[in-house]
Amino acid sequence: MVEELSAGILEARAVSMSFSGLRVLSDVSLGLAEGDILGLIGPNGAGKTTLVNVLSGFTKPGNGEVRVDGRPVEAGDPAAFVRAGVVRTFQNVRLFSRLSVRENILAAVLARGVARRAAAERTEQLMEALDLTRFAEAEARSIPYGDERRVGIARALAGKPRFLLLDEPAAGLNGAENEALIALIARLPRDFGCGILLIEHNMQVVMALCSRLHVLDGGRTIAVGAADEVRFDPNVIRAYLGRAGEGRLAALG
Ligand SMILES: Nc1ncnc2c1ncn2[C@@H]1O[C@H](COP(=O)(O)OP(=O)(O)O)[C@@H](O)[C@H]1O
Ligand SMILES: [Mg+2]
Repeated sequence: MVEELSAGILEARAVSMSFSGLRVLSDVSLGLAEGDILGLIGPNGAGKTTLVNVLSGFTKPGNGEVRVDGRPVEAGDPAAFVRAGVVRTFQNVRLFSRLSVRENILAAVLARGVARRAAAERTEQLMEALDLTRFAEAEARSIPYGDERRVGIARALAGKPRFLLLDEPAAGLNGAENEALIALIARLPRDFGCGILLIEHNMQVVMALCSRLHVLDGGRTIAVGAADEVRFDPNVIRAYLGRAGEGRLAALG
């Protein structure tokens, strides 16, 4: 029965984490449903990336566990998380700079054990869906930053993940690139059926994309819920944006 209730959900349960005795996550529980976009926000150092590391198996938490469909996933084993359908991107893209865009994506699909012909087809589909076809032959290092980001997302989508964790995917992009990426991320749950955990600092982007928000501050959860309620939570305004934030948040309308 518990498993039925947890079907289609990636969960962190009571996760705690310390580095050299310093608490970075304290008893954090989070749930992401397939098809949803959940915003993970909070000030620098709040523990967002650490939580994504735990949720994707890159870091083994001191306490707590991660479950998919109610079943625990082997902590600290990224391959087990990939098998469970959980894939993450990194704050800095990691592409094969001398390979073409097509080869970069193909390599990711092949790495998932897909047979060659099917992998080639999947690669073309991913390039089409992510508006990368025109760069197919270009070396990854030669294309604009925003397009490079989309190659990273295409690679993450190679294995048809059920949950995609995006750590600041829009960081460093210019206005137009930023907008293109937001439009793309908005389409992902529908086009690929996955749930998305999005770490993002720009509140306008967060509000445009996320139905729900999970807010961390100093490694603790300070608010969870519908985006348009959480944004007005006084604790969130204070913690996330500082005193000057109240005006900035109000300015978003
Ligand atoms: N590998 C590590 N070793 C020691 N401290 C770390 C490590 N990774 C993160 N931290 C610390 O944990 C805290 C949370 O970091 P992080 O999860 O990167 O926050 P955020 O992504 O919200 O900015 C910070 O104080 C950071 O310095
Ligand atoms: Mg971070």
